[in-house]
Amino acid sequence: MTETFDVKLDEKLYIPDPRIKESAWTPDYTAAYREFLQDPEGFWEKAARELEWFRPWEHVLEWEYPYARWFTGARLNITYNCLDRHVRGERRDKPAIIWRGEAGEERILTYEQLSAGVMRLANGLKSLGIEKGDRVCIYMPLVPEQIIAMLACARIGAVHSVVFGGFGAGALHMRIQDAEARAVITADVGYRRGKTIPLKAIVDEATKDTQSVERIVVLRRADPPAELRPDREVDLAELMANAAPECPPEVMDAEDPLFILYTSGSTGAPKGIVHTCGGYMVGTYYTTRHVFDIKDEDIFWCTADTGWITGHSYIVYGPLATGATVVIREGTPDYPDPGAFWKIVQDLGVTIFYTAPTAIRMFMKYGEEWPDRYDLSSLRILGSVGEPLNPETFEWYYRVIGKERCPIVDTWWQTETGMHMITTMIGEPMRPGFAGKPIPGVVADVVDKDGNPVPPGTGGFLVIKEPWPAMLRTVYKNDERYCRYWNTIPGCYTAGDLAVKSEDGYIMVLGRADDLIVVAGHNIGTAEVESALVSHDAVAEAAVIGKPDPLKGNIIKAFVILRVGENPNDGLTAELARHVRKNLGPIAVPAEIAYVDRLPKTRSGKIMRRVLKAQELGMDPGDISTLEE
Ligand code: WT7
Repeated sequence: MTETFDVKLDEKLYIPDPRIKESAWTPDYTAAYREFLQDPEGFWEKAARELEWFRPWEHVLEWEYPYARWFTGARLNITYNCLDRHVRGERRDKPAIIWRGEAGEERILTYEQLSAGVMRLANGLKSLGIEKGDRVCIYMPLVPEQIIAMLACARIGAVHSVVFGGFGAGALHMRIQDAEARAVITADVGYRRGKTIPLKAIVDEATKDTQSVERIVVLRRADPPAELRPDREVDLAELMANAAPECPPEVMDAEDPLFILYTSGSTGAPKGIVHTCGGYMVGTYYTTRHVFDIKDEDIFWCTADTGWITGHSYIVYGPLATGATVVIREGTPDYPDPGAFWKIVQDLGVTIFYTAPTAIRMFMKYGEEWPDRYDLSSLRILGSVGEPLNPETFEWYYRVIGKERCPIVDTWWQTETGMHMITTMIGEPMRPGFAGKPIPGVVADVVDKDGNPVPPGTGGFLVIKEPWPAMLRTVYKNDERYCRYWNTIPGCYTAGDLAVKSEDGYIMVLGRADDLIVVAGHNIGTAEVESALVSHDAVAEAAVIGKPDPLKGNIIKAFVILRVGENPNDGLTAELARHVRKNLGPIAVPAEIAYVDRLPKTRSGKIMRRVLKAQELGMDPGDISTLEE
């Protein structure tokens, strides 16, 4: 672990329209946070009471460091809250899911229809012998059946392990093996940029020599439909059609596992993060409602894939628990043209839009004319997740997409946290570059390696100091790895991120602790230098690495993607160096700048700096199963 370091902070503040707070679920962040501190368990208990349980809890929290159990003794089924609760009430005919395909095709499923599909598939899985506690791998494109498959597992208490449909056979194989999945639910093909992705063929490859997989359920979309092997392959539509329509929800203990999700971390081998039923339900429900301020009229679009935690928590479980209308879209954001997303916002009247900085930077690269062709006036709240939202990108998002009207919630969280942890709640003043403050219900801080809080302006480690309901319970079959989250810094959950606080308690996330470069004895965060580069008009995206240097220990090398219409030349290189010097000081100036067309990224859009570094130094890049291309 490194020592703390100084960070220069931007003091810019955006004050939102005070009317935003008037109708917000959390009209006063400070008061809500105070209420939480006065009675932390009472705070979460209140949120839990808004949902339906088959049996109440004995204790809200039992905390035996580092193991937490939430809502102990309670019984529930998360699908009862995501489906039955609405079908029995006033949301029966309300659209639950609006799906758009790449060519503009549309499917709408009401809560009633979604519930009916889930129950049929749940019965279908039962008929294949799948029982409570069995692991089921879901490897599908972003279609309603993917969500139906997740909920069908949860309905019968099977543990789903969703693997993003962009992963290759090796990554899929490793995840199926580790989870010992008894069944795989897949589709014959997915669609991307007008081409088909042969998912089923990848599953065949990945399950060639797996002992655990007994059945493969296939959604057949292609024409003519793919051939199935009668001994172990099943047609999903047939399975549903032949199944009984009613499937009562399995009664789950609050601490029974709900799903495993392998992290797509940019370093190291994937870990199976385990989430449980009760606490995860309460955490995702509360944050969906209060961070996105979801109301019944909202059209909510989270552009992630359900294969990531963002999709689990904020496409599926959180929004459906609140009874929202959720938009999903198969395909890439710039296909058939860079206006594809904005057309959907206009067509469907999207009100809450949640995406990643890497997508926003891509839109910046294409230019304002694309969003400007569409009516975006339905939008009321914008969200960001996945990486630091650097000020340049914040300002573009705020001005060009939100028309200086919509608050931006930059939400910091992780696969491990299950739910939002840090953001600027709507209506609060926004600081570009800063995610914000811990949400009510969460205690976060920036500390040194011994766990002592560092003063404002000093960088340190981002930690969570108290358990929270949606926290991971363990790493699948690896308690030792789980304990490491809690014993790296005494008494704290260590997120692995570096951060810095402002005088008024806003937290800026600087990037992963392992993305730090030591230049001539100074610690420099890759995210800071990248942010400085991207703030130059000519730059669309940047990644920086440390390169060993006999004199300085390391020098900084930058890889830069220019915006459309910009050309690399020596003048520009000097100009970029000047620009970084002005922003961050001479110590952070890249000694080398290379112009590239693409950067190695994980499927979830995180730059894999270690791949760049390995290339640069002619080393073995290590595990690259999460690399996009
Ligand atoms: C890591 C977690 C949580 C859903 C998507 C990624 C980075 C996430 C932010 C943010 C700065 C962020 C962190 C974190 N990260 N959100 N708003 N600002 N950094 O989930 O794959 O588990 O990655 O993503 O480095 O530790 P994940």
